[in-house]
Amino acid sequence: MNPTSPLNIAVLLSGNGSTLQNILDRIDAGTLSARVTCVVASRENVFGLERARNANIPAAAVPRKAFADTASFSAAIWAEVSKHPVDLVVLAGFMSLLNVPDTYRNRIMNVHPALIPAFCGQGMYGHHVHEAVIAYGAKITGVTVHFVDEHYDHGPIILQGPVPVLDGDTADTLAERVQAEERELYPRAIQLFAEGRLSVEGRCVRIG
Ligand code: GAR
Repeated sequence: MNPTSPLNIAVLLSGNGSTLQNILDRIDAGTLSARVTCVVASRENVFGLERARNANIPAAAVPRKAFADTASFSAAIWAEVSKHPVDLVVLAGFMSLLNVPDTYRNRIMNVHPALIPAFCGQGMYGHHVHEAVIAYGAKITGVTVHFVDEHYDHGPIILQGPVPVLDGDTADTLAERVQAEERELYPRAIQLFAEGRLSVEGRCVRIG
């Protein structure tokens, strides 16, 4: 990575792409020194791909259902990503497990809409998370940005932000509050990476 030029980001997504849009908006606003060099989706015809094409970003689908297992799917994803200059891979509502090649160790980030290690793991995504938080009676939830390893929602934690659960919250009202926090925390973590300020010791991320 060259600290004087913007960070090259690959964005991986599976759906609507509001996380991608937020990143593009922050780059346009000049608060995130990065450029999105490619968008790869694990499903065909999702709106996130359209957002990418509207922003003139190379966009491709690598449908998860076309592959028998995580290994072959991951190989196809990394083959697509490696066609472009990439310093950091950003998962933006990407719902499939990936194998992490050594070259991408601590260079893949994910945002999870809860405070890991609570309310996370396989099947815990989007509204399922907020429904589980409300059903459990938790008073605080939040957002976690972390590096990605081979397990769901598991790698070293970069930033966390708390969000209160209010009486009468539904999954929709809670999601709205959590997503507002995501829109602040995720670009902040990416910017820290761009500035070379993140170092990983075991499970712990130090911010320099
Ligand atoms: C985001 O809210 C993100 O927290 C969640 O999916 C949403 C994606 O929205 N990710 C997870 O639940 C990961 N376990 P988007 O498709 O509009 O960007």
